[in-house]
Amino acid sequence: MSISRFTGIELGPPIEVFSLVKTFGDDKFENKVSLVMGAYRTNEGKPWVLPVVKKVEKLLAEDDLQNHEYLPILGLEAFSRLATVMLLGENSQAIIQGRAFGIQSLSGTGSLRVGAEFLARIFHYDTFYYSTPTWENHKLVFTNAGFKKGCEYRYWNAETKSVDIEGMLQDLRDAPENSVIILHACAHNPTGCDPTHEQWKQIADVIEQKKLFTFFDSAYQGFASGDVSHDAYAPRLFAERGMEFFCAQSFAKNFGLYNERVGNLVVVMNNPKEVAQVKSQLTLIVRGMYSNPPNHGARIVATVLGNDDLHEEWKDHIRVMSNRIKLMRKALYDRMLKLRTPGNWDHIINQIGMFSYTGLTERQVAHLKDHYHIYMLRSGRINICALTDKNIDYVANAIHDAVTLFADPNKNSV
Ligand code: LMR
Repeated sequence: MSISRFTGIELGPPIEVFSLVKTFGDDKFENKVSLVMGAYRTNEGKPWVLPVVKKVEKLLAEDDLQNHEYLPILGLEAFSRLATVMLLGENSQAIIQGRAFGIQSLSGTGSLRVGAEFLARIFHYDTFYYSTPTWENHKLVFTNAGFKKGCEYRYWNAETKSVDIEGMLQDLRDAPENSVIILHACAHNPTGCDPTHEQWKQIADVIEQKKLFTFFDSAYQGFASGDVSHDAYAPRLFAERGMEFFCAQSFAKNFGLYNERVGNLVVVMNNPKEVAQVKSQLTLIVRGMYSNPPNHGARIVATVLGNDDLHEEWKDHIRVMSNRIKLMRKALYDRMLKLRTPGNWDHIINQIGMFSYTGLTERQVAHLKDHYHIYMLRSGRINICALTDKNIDYVANAIHDAVTLFADPNKNSV
């Protein structure tokens, strides 16, 4: 064999969520259950193509005016406009005054990456803060975009299984000026715990006083509570207070368009006169990264948001999804109580959105996988809507067994 320049490359670590999905796929056990990936499932355990999405896809397929020409570098203008209104609200002063706009990007991740690269390249910001815990990809996205220093702010209180607001505020107070603070707009991933409205005001106060820069990650608007306005409380509050920020919007979960990579980077700034310059720099970043975004998913979202009837139909769909999640939370909670599983399980019904941060230990998680073929992230995060009427008893009994067998060495209960 001849010498290769590729010899000696270090093997990178697997991406936990995708590698577990693969292991699950290869598992031959009949009653296996995957609570891994953050994707909606019906009560039959199937992915759901939203009926309104299917309807629009058929319309688009029949529409002779549609073609496969390139979109502009910053994407479909109608999509970005409507998505930005969805985030900030019909009466947003920032939009009315022409100082808020969006650019289409590649789902939430691509929007985070483009925004982060702008902040690193144009503002020379080099420090970002993420919650402990957070969606694990935040670190990689910001580091790859040129940020030098990733810092944690406290978020999860393992004792109370809720937001450690005092710890969070203190860490934000200690952050150097111009640090970029990543905030989950709603349905925090992985904990499912959001600050209260009062706590959001405290967070905004510190960010303003300490001259920090907010980057919202909004992956669950409408999906979390079933109400688009409710889930946009934090970005709308920050905008109303006249704060400048970025927000990465994803349409993966709320439209079920996971693999279409539909996203919008919203920019809220103070001076409408600077918009053209900012857009021109974003244009250069996108052009050098992927040139221009794909059409299909963004066209669907724009069609739905731009038509009153379709929009109402979609609102029904997000209520269906969020209600099913609430039902399954209650179903799991009831079973834990009925089985008298050691520990307090209130957090299962108090958390919001797709995930529950169960508090299961790594040992318990391993037991569930090895013994029951039930898969979840090492951290104990489960996708609640992967629970169904059919698998809920199996999962609840298995959790009961794991918790009873392997008590958390740090506590008396989970
Ligand atoms: C998740 O958290 O499971 C999803 O957002 C999928 C992903 O890319 O991690």
